[in-house]
Amino acid sequence: MLVHVLGSAAGGGFPQWNCNCRQCAGVRAGTLRARPRTQSSLCVRGDGGADWALVNASPDILAQIRATPALQPNRGPRDSGIAGVILIDGQVDHTTGLYMLRERGSPLPVWCTEPVAEDLTRGNPILQVLGHFCGVERHRLPVDGSEFALAGVPGVRFSALPLASKAAPYSPHREQPVPGDNIGLTMIDGASGRRLFYAPGLGARDGDVDAAMRSADCVLVDGTFWTDDEMIALGFSRKTGRSIGHLPQSGAGGMIEWLDTLPRTTRKVLIHVNNTNPILDEDSPERAELARHGIEVAWDGMEIAL
Ligand code: MLT
Ligand code: MN
Ligand code: ZN
Repeated sequence: MLVHVLGSAAGGGFPQWNCNCRQCAGVRAGTLRARPRTQSSLCVRGDGGADWALVNASPDILAQIRATPALQPNRGPRDSGIAGVILIDGQVDHTTGLYMLRERGSPLPVWCTEPVAEDLTRGNPILQVLGHFCGVERHRLPVDGSEFALAGVPGVRFSALPLASKAAPYSPHREQPVPGDNIGLTMIDGASGRRLFYAPGLGARDGDVDAAMRSADCVLVDGTFWTDDEMIALGFSRKTGRSIGHLPQSGAGGMIEWLDTLPRTTRKVLIHVNNTNPILDEDSPERAELARHGIEVAWDGMEIAL
């Protein structure tokens, strides 16, 4: 199984179009040692297969496809290596790219939970709009842990569990979470049984998620904010990270403390990194602290073979 990170930044990307924080300004000017990053997405394929499951459809998907020749095979006049899409929530940074796939010649297979399908039918009716183009072949994504597979993506199995995080702002249940608003996705190699757990939006520590992380060979988890009040301290928002569904990395009860409890052999990677997060600066003390804990930071183009 091969996981290819297409976009490792949170919503807004890095640098963000309108942001002049130290990091966005520094990466734009070339004065900060940091990689630019596109918005949150990855793709996965089995060892035997040519085609990929796209996990989340980023607003940056066209640039991501251009940067990833494997997603653009040439087996016919029109072709794509994307066999289907799995959505882990209905957020803008994970769904807007669906519009960019509208030129398909057949309905786009989309796997999402019931609450996400509702949000994408009412609050933000992407699935309806796509009905006027290629259409969507919607599959019900189970949140009871049962395994599923995508046609055209042999050699990978998936299972999902509901997460404590946040539905999109336009969701009727933004403040009354329901199971399936957000999921953590386990990808399982069909041959070896090796597992990768992916959760770019993870708001709180709980037993089921902990068990899923513990059984994974690699975890690719919420790297949005270093501190809970990061956006408040910079004057960009009045909301804490936790209140919008993202557990900060530092401090008591944070992600680093949690990852430290996993087996030493588990590969630990942060993804969905906000442009304000100091871990993007490769020379920052925060990045050095991650390194001391054996924690990596995902980058666009990173591949994880399991
Ligand atoms: C999130 O991860 O909290 C959202 O994607 C934020 C956003 O809409 O950019
Ligand atoms: Mn996001
Ligand atoms: Zn910024």
